[in-house]
Amino acid sequence: MNKTLGLIGSGNINSAVARLAVAAGLDVVLSNSRGPETLADLVAELGEHARAATPAEAAEAGDLVVVSIPLGAYEKIPAGPLAGKTVIDTMNYYPERDGRIAELDANEPTSSELVQRHLADSRVVKAANNVVFSQLFSLARPSGAPDRSAVPVAGDDVAAKAEAVRLLDALGYDAVDIGTLADSWRSEPGTPVYCKPYLGERPAGMGWPETQEWLYQSPGAPVSADRVRELTAAAVRGPAGGGFGPDAWT
Ligand SMILES: NC(=O)c1ccc[n+]([C@@H]2O[C@H](COP(=O)([O-])OP(=O)(O)OC[C@H]3O[C@@H](n4cnc5c(N)ncnc54)[C@H](OP(=O)(O)O)[C@@H]3O)[C@@H](O)[C@H]2O)c1
Repeated sequence: MNKTLGLIGSGNINSAVARLAVAAGLDVVLSNSRGPETLADLVAELGEHARAATPAEAAEAGDLVVVSIPLGAYEKIPAGPLAGKTVIDTMNYYPERDGRIAELDANEPTSSELVQRHLADSRVVKAANNVVFSQLFSLARPSGAPDRSAVPVAGDDVAAKAEAVRLLDALGYDAVDIGTLADSWRSEPGTPVYCKPYLGERPAGMGWPETQEWLYQSPGAPVSADRVRELTAAAVRGPAGGGFGPDAWT
């Protein structure tokens, strides 16, 4: 892949994406809400294949763009410079962080359908939303590695999905097509494929404070494409909106 990846949001997830992308030989243009100067340390760490810009500039520069910001800010994603582009949406609905979004609470659209509606002239693909950032980084493997993991992808545009699959491959993942954006609830928070399988076995007897530390320190456990198919097929649509606190572990 000889491409420039635009990154809107440069927090936990997109920092991991940026590290994997630069390792794969891609150029990255990072952005956040506070301004490019606040990304100087990350850019310095990533080296000459990285630069920081505004979200609109990152959108403009990217052949492909990954949006990874709190979902509550989705209407601030710059739609104009993303027109005609494939946009990978890693976002999840966490009402405590994002505020309540009535349409999602009614379980009508999926969160990625809302993002697609905002980015009406882009091709949105949901991916990389179901792995904790630390395992997203640590589980990446070269193509063909026996312990390579897979992640679900969902989208309405077949060519855009193929583009997302190629990016995931470059980053270190196989992909399982789970259908359209309307189907993407199958990888949303609270479903069987959401984060937990990639974490591995939680050591016995851990309380919540230890679990919180372990979440970010576990090297993770590979999840094969067949397992992703099983887990997403077994999903049952529940109330929208995630929580990954103590309740998710009982
Ligand atoms: N954390 C995980 O392991 C994980 C796993 C899967 C999916 N996700 C989902 O991925 C998304 C990002 O999660 P995260 O943990 O990476 O979040 P995070 O660490 O809090 O980072 C969020 C990033 O978004 C930026 N941002 C916020 N509002 C923005 C705006 N209007 N325009 C441009 N950038 C903006 C922030 O910039 P400033 O810092 O300058 O405000 C920051 O760089 C969320 O929707 C989350 O649910 C997270």
